[in-house]
Amino acid sequence: MKYDFKYHLSRRAFLAAAAGAAISASLRPARASAVDERQIKVAPGEARFSGKAGPPTAVWVYNGAVPGPAFRLRQGQPVRIAVENRLSEDTTVHWHGIRLRNAMDGVPGLTQQPIRPGESFVYEFTPPDAGTFWYHPHADSLVQIGRGLAGPLIVEEAEPVAFDRDLLWLLQDWRLNSDGQIAGGFGGMMDASMSGRVGNLVTINGQASADQNVRAGERVRLRLANASLARMMALRFEGHRPVVLAIDGQPCDPHEPEDGRLVLAPAMRIDIALDMQGDPGSRHDVIDDFYDGLAYRLTTLAYDQTSPLRAHPLAAPVALPRNPLPEPDLSNAIRQEIVLQGGMMGGGKLAGIGGMMGMGMPGMNGGAAWAINGISMTGDGHAGMGPQFTLERGATCHLTMRNETAWWHPMHVHGFSLSVLSRNGSPVPRRQWQDTVLLAPKDTVECAFVADNPGDWMLHCHVADHQMAGLMTVFRVT
Ligand code: C2O
Ligand code: CU
Ligand code: CU
Repeated sequence: MKYDFKYHLSRRAFLAAAAGAAISASLRPARASAVDERQIKVAPGEARFSGKAGPPTAVWVYNGAVPGPAFRLRQGQPVRIAVENRLSEDTTVHWHGIRLRNAMDGVPGLTQQPIRPGESFVYEFTPPDAGTFWYHPHADSLVQIGRGLAGPLIVEEAEPVAFDRDLLWLLQDWRLNSDGQIAGGFGGMMDASMSGRVGNLVTINGQASADQNVRAGERVRLRLANASLARMMALRFEGHRPVVLAIDGQPCDPHEPEDGRLVLAPAMRIDIALDMQGDPGSRHDVIDDFYDGLAYRLTTLAYDQTSPLRAHPLAAPVALPRNPLPEPDLSNAIRQEIVLQGGMMGGGKLAGIGGMMGMGMPGMNGGAAWAINGISMTGDGHAGMGPQFTLERGATCHLTMRNETAWWHPMHVHGFSLSVLSRNGSPVPRRQWQDTVLLAPKDTVECAFVADNPGDWMLHCHVADHQMAGLMTVFRVT
């Protein structure tokens, strides 16, 4: 029998509404227990990157759009998201950065069966942390994210935080051919063993190089999310001084970034407070200059002619409320080391710039260009390999990640946030927690987390080509 998706949902929505009504009748806060019901349909679709008039590009979409809808959830409120797969291949949805039950993590073959074409899966979780997150498939990740499947997920603070505006830029990088269509050749050895599939068009919320309209004097909370397959970014806001409020959804001590650049590797998010200190009518470029010699204008802050919103500049932005993260006990920590190995010799930031001198690890087996502690787990993390290490529930893990390669790797852990302790021996200030930690070539980063969430969890590079080609592992919390 065919699964009646629409009926199922509307009935659920009806029940949820009825439950909400009953609760508010008894004067308890309705949102405390009402389940937030959402749905996502994954399907082929079209995007127009240069406005309505532009030519369409064939993409894959969540609810008809690239990027997918921006879900705004509430901290501590349960949500139920029904995902319907209308692609002709398996998919799943991974809720990147959300600390949730293992069974809801969306890794096919590890935490759930893949969602087959025509089938649905209902994800249920309660986000414990407020912040900026995102969602994407974890099946055939390189192709599915590369064809556009990604969307923002905002968890709102239980108590609202005041800004004049709350904006979000979900950044995607596309490799298009001369017909404006997504170029084939996903997973080629050049991409896989070097900088990954860096594209040739960057979009903000699905639009290329459109102006961002702003008003003088306003203070914006700008949530930046890099949903690229491989493109690292270093953003400069000309004439402005962004203040970093949160990294990967987790509030940190507010600070201006070193040399004013916001380094945003694939899968990372940064929330900034941006005071619009330009004059009415002025224009200020936002530049991405991560790759030496390949700087480009991402967008322009276009001030309208309206007089400034306020006469005097605001005081420095205050810290966002911290999330309820368990504090690592470093005096009793289990030490674990993760060594990143492989890739082409030579290195550099982008294929072709650093030179090629043959494979770094000629002994590695078919399709694998990378390894973690000598083991290449390839693909999407499907079963077949046991966990690389096991932690007892409640233990603190002191995790050292050492990059022996000549390439950059944003290392991502599922299910946890990492307290970042040191980089190359220097302490990292500002109490930063991240789910995605960027390692430059030869970097060593020390982190810690409390293994409070049982299950099998992925740890991988978020350059999708690197992940597929072996830079991935699994650990277990019992
Ligand atoms: Cu953003 Cu394994 O994922
Ligand atoms: Cu993740
Ligand atoms: Cu990598």
